[in-house]
Amino acid sequence: MGWERESGHSVNDGPPELTRPNNRQEQKKWRPPKASSKNLNDLFHDTLKDIYFAEKKILATLPKMAKAAQSADLKAAFEKHRGQTEEHVARLQEVFEVIGKKPTAKTCAAIVGITDEGAEIMEEYKGSPALDAGLLAAAQAVEHYEISRYGTMRTWAAELGLTEAVNLLDLTLGEEKDTDATLTELAESAVNVAAEAA
Ligand SMILES: [Fe+2]
Ligand SMILES: [Fe+2]
Repeated sequence: MGWERESGHSVNDGPPELTRPNNRQEQKKWRPPKASSKNLNDLFHDTLKDIYFAEKKILATLPKMAKAAQSADLKAAFEKHRGQTEEHVARLQEVFEVIGKKPTAKTCAAIVGITDEGAEIMEEYKGSPALDAGLLAAAQAVEHYEISRYGTMRTWAAELGLTEAVNLLDLTLGEEKDTDATLTELAESAVNVAAEAA
């Protein structure tokens, strides 16, 4: 385990004593252990790496979805959002700059799972009238994930006093919400009707 300690160790030997030692000499040096030294700045930076990974993954996935879509409107919606997503990646790079960090991506298991599901739909519903309905559902799952992340990041940026980051995150959040609304309209109109009529 590494936590069991023999008596006579100096404080630099390993993890700090969790309870106050009995030995007087040790008592002078002993400090209660901190729960974690990580703070909201670290959380903001970690989540930024996560969404940076997600946006890059989405950027690679959208052309495949546009290619697979049967409806011209859905194809156009995916193509438009691909262009916006390029901007989202660029804005995140600016947010990294705001906090003085180098843009780094950290694997986001959630977006990997959501995009894997989308790939499965493309595969299993190829040539089916329900394909577009499936693509819409997958795309909306992506947008909802992004809306959740950008909403949180925006709040944290405001709490941390990162005004420039708030503005950048807000711009992207607005575009994610608009895209979600467009997809909802498409889902309520032609795409699902076509799937039902088949
Ligand atoms: Fe995005
Ligand atoms: Fe998006």
